[in-house]
Amino acid sequence: MPHSVFLNRVQQDVKSLLEKLLPSDDTKPQRLHQAMRYAVLNPGKRLRPALVYATGEMLGADASKLAIPAVAVELIHAYSLIHDDLPCMDDDDLRRGKPTCHIAFDEATAILAGDALQTLAFELLVSESDFNVRDDTRLKILAVLSQASGSLGMGGGQAIDLELTDQKSPTLEMLEFMHQMKTGALIDASVMMGYLASETADMEVLEHLKTYSAALGLAFQIRDDILDIESETAVLGKPQGSDVEKNKATFPALLGMDGAKLRAQELADIALEALHHLPYKSDNLALFANYIVNRDY
Ligand code: IPE
Ligand code: IPE
Ligand code: MG
Ligand code: MG
Ligand code: MG
Repeated sequence: MPHSVFLNRVQQDVKSLLEKLLPSDDTKPQRLHQAMRYAVLNPGKRLRPALVYATGEMLGADASKLAIPAVAVELIHAYSLIHDDLPCMDDDDLRRGKPTCHIAFDEATAILAGDALQTLAFELLVSESDFNVRDDTRLKILAVLSQASGSLGMGGGQAIDLELTDQKSPTLEMLEFMHQMKTGALIDASVMMGYLASETADMEVLEHLKTYSAALGLAFQIRDDILDIESETAVLGKPQGSDVEKNKATFPALLGMDGAKLRAQELADIALEALHHLPYKSDNLALFANYIVNRDY
């Protein structure tokens, strides 16, 4: 991640919240809780929580409104990564620089840890007393995150990913649709939850934020596809070349490396352009649009 006071703060805050909110290692069943903590606390970039905070803070919300949605989306993301790495899906053995959950524990525990992280996300949104929003806001946030996680969002995108694997020539349209669902949906939800938690109602702002997050989410997964080819395992913290080895449908496979990079840059420019229309100081959101196409892990 780029060095920024904002991001360092979010990463610290998310870490201490997750440490507190996840069941402890010695709570029964210990092995399941150990696996959950292992997968979540191993530091990722925390991009999705950062988007919740950046959007919400821009609109005047404080941590009492943003912390729980930020943690919830990271829990869903961590669950998606555990399942994504399973032998029946991408069959990868390294994640965030450490053995994947099913390698460090076992497959059954990894599946259960993913399941439990998913439900914990919703439990926190429903019943965490420190989550200080109106009841109707809470319901809207629950609707956004549940839809973005399910068969019309991330889960559905993962299903399409499996359908397109080994397929000779997916169309650009299919590939974009898959990326928008498997990765874009949670990125859209992060921005949307920041907006909702702020309890501002401004349809124009909302439209620009949607344009921003749609472009950002797609660009993020295109860059992920590029890094699978161009980066190194030690930098990525996950196995370089996994997509090529598994014959995955990716942007570089379809458009070539230059085409994929061009598309990612175009999308980042669309995201930045959308921010220019906002009547707020959106530096932290702009940071992501620039970072997404230049990141090396
Ligand atoms: C990886 O997401 C999976 C994708 C959706 C591309 P991140 O690149 O955000 O992974 P972490 O959370 O930093 O490990
Ligand atoms: C994963 O896409 C998207 C998820 C919903 C987890 P990838 O399979 O490309 O993610 P990585 O490269 O393993 O992190
Ligand atoms: Mg995958
Ligand atoms: Mg994968
Ligand atoms: Mg990938």
